[in-house]
Amino acid sequence: MTEHFLEEDYDLAHLEVTPGQPGGSKPVDLPILHGTMGPPVLDIRLLYSETDCFTYDPGYTSTASCESKITFIDGEKGVLLHRGYPIEELAERSTFLEVAYLLMEEDLPTEEAFRWFNQSITLHTMVHEQLRNFYSGFRRDAHPMAIIVGVVGALSAFYHDSLDIHDAQQRLIASHRLIAKMPTIAAMAYKYSIGQPFIYPQNDLSYAENLIYMMFATPAEPYKVNPIVAKALDKILILHADHEQNASTSTVRLAGSTGANPFACIAAGIACLWGPAHGGANEAVINMLKKIGHKDRISEYLKRAKDKNDPFRLMGFGHRVYKNYDPRATVLRKACQEVLAELGYKHEPLLELAMELEKIALEDSYFIEKKLYPNVDFYSGIIFKAMGIPTSMFTVLFAVARTAGWIAQWLEMIGDPSQKIGRPRQLYTGHTQRNYTPLDQRKP
Ligand code: ACO
Repeated sequence: MTEHFLEEDYDLAHLEVTPGQPGGSKPVDLPILHGTMGPPVLDIRLLYSETDCFTYDPGYTSTASCESKITFIDGEKGVLLHRGYPIEELAERSTFLEVAYLLMEEDLPTEEAFRWFNQSITLHTMVHEQLRNFYSGFRRDAHPMAIIVGVVGALSAFYHDSLDIHDAQQRLIASHRLIAKMPTIAAMAYKYSIGQPFIYPQNDLSYAENLIYMMFATPAEPYKVNPIVAKALDKILILHADHEQNASTSTVRLAGSTGANPFACIAAGIACLWGPAHGGANEAVINMLKKIGHKDRISEYLKRAKDKNDPFRLMGFGHRVYKNYDPRATVLRKACQEVLAELGYKHEPLLELAMELEKIALEDSYFIEKKLYPNVDFYSGIIFKAMGIPTSMFTVLFAVARTAGWIAQWLEMIGDPSQKIGRPRQLYTGHTQRNYTPLDQRKP
């Protein structure tokens, strides 16, 4: 899978490292690797063996953890490509399942390939009947993210025939099972929290339609999925499908690097996604807007966001990689306005407040200087709210979409012959060696 991206005679960076130990400076020549796009990458694999030095990069702000062919981001220019295709084009012209195929299989499917993929996903949408019992072990007021972390991890206790990561066919089945079952598992978490019966998937519905159907239908009466809502949800799923080596994807890769089974790896990704600095931000945006309450209080909250001594941050603003507009946010902002108009929202105080906050923050010098633009979570929170999705399900829907990317990245990692267990080093600043002191001799 990894054909070599190194040119025959690649550049070398010459470093003189002086660790401050006897022996003086140690020279090392490090290869400079060139991808097809993006900045050159200094290959430091020899650094420790040649110089006795580690590198220090908490938060991985300068570290490429892997080689990948799936997604490319240029944060300065606001570019996001999946397998070379711009996110704007995919959001406009593709569907979530087609994008899932693209991420996993390298290219857009032919008609025949898509028929096969669509059918395979459709045939795996139900969950093992025994899995229903899991839900009743949770409190009704449990957060749906807490439930899906547990239930997705538990899939490995049900699908023993797709746990062998060294078998390509088993990897494929596990991948399709995860993409197919995530909407069912997510909708069941919601139904459980409101005390309604679980709704089985309907295989004549599209992926997004099915998800909405399982969340909102009841056995008591017919339910028709609103096509505007289904179209908007499909677009949101596309926009969240993958985002190269973000925190949750790196978590999936790290868990997978140990040989853990795919269901366990995706459960690890879900846990990581939950945090408010990552996927949990879409829910946090709505909670923040509720707290602000009225547009007269926006300036008070902006002041707090700028105060170094106040932990408050404007949720839905800023991004580690994008120092320009998040291209997903641009697409979603437009979709958000269309959906609000189509669903007839003329006056919804929370949404009006969001639009006012966006306007004021974009004109504020602090946010301009620090290049803090609204990110995808700002608009997804608002659009989900307008679509009638309960707030606690926002991050769950993000997890449903991101499962496609997690799976694609996991498959790529397993197929990479240079793959090793992920095992970072550290800068130790604790005690040097000392002797044990008996309890009665310890000083307060
Ligand atoms: N509100 C106020 N100030 C902010 C914000 C914010 N939302 N985001 C960053 N800043 C400030 C920081 O205080 C810092 O200021 P300083 O230079 O004076 O110290 C500067 O901007 C740079 O921010 P960092 O935290 O160093 O940037 P980092 O790349 O580590 O963080 C992050 C990115 C976590 C997304 C951050 O912007 C944030 O917390 N945003 C709010 C949460 C959010 O919306 N997360 C969703 C991310 S997108 C996604 O996961 C799909």
